[in-house]
Amino acid sequence: MAHILLTSGPTRQYLDPVRYLTNASSGRMGAALATAALAQGHTVSIVSGPVEVDYPTECTVIPVVTTEEMLAACQEVFPKCDGCIGVAAPCDYRTEKVSTEKIAKNGEPLFLKLIETPDVVATLGRRKEQRWIVGFALETNDQRLRALAKLEQKCCDLMVINGPEAMHAADNRVSVIDAAGNLLAEFSGPKPRVAAEVFDVIQNRLITHRER
Ligand code: C5P
Repeated sequence: MAHILLTSGPTRQYLDPVRYLTNASSGRMGAALATAALAQGHTVSIVSGPVEVDYPTECTVIPVVTTEEMLAACQEVFPKCDGCIGVAAPCDYRTEKVSTEKIAKNGEPLFLKLIETPDVVATLGRRKEQRWIVGFALETNDQRLRALAKLEQKCCDLMVINGPEAMHAADNRVSVIDAAGNLLAEFSGPKPRVAAEVFDVIQNRLITHRER
């Protein structure tokens, strides 16, 4: 049996004490993948941004807010795991400065300088050693090509591709590619069913394979 780290949900990057940058990730695909992994008898730790979804009670959930916090929590947990599924949508930018006071309107345009946040999966991928990593790529165009480039940059073993309609939706349509760019499977339907099918691919290609 494996110990699996799941990143899930969005992260937030605050501009001031009340405003933040984020995205519409719901954490539903993370919860569905956790359920699928538990059903196969695995141990699941979830590092999750702020979500309303309920994760299965059998999981250890580590709540975080920012992308930097998600990375720090994952760096703590990943060495104890066999693999990681990066289904989170971490916020890719933060403001250069976070105002300690609420930014007041003054009738003028407000210019924000945004700096890239760390890439959680890519950072784990660089030090993965014998562990496996599955990434999720949300692409609007050139899906296979872009997803394969991300798979390589982030040292993933498999990449699950979905479109923007997956965000905050009950259903999903995904393709799974391997590190050679081969299309392994395509699934569509309610997220719990799609997650179970995706997890079967992970189980067969990455978990059972290594247990032999
Ligand atoms: O956002 P992007 O399409 O690059 O996401 C692809 C993969 O990288 C996903 O698995 C996502 O969880 C991960 N990612 C990350 N940290 C980021 C951005 C993306 O771990 N800052």
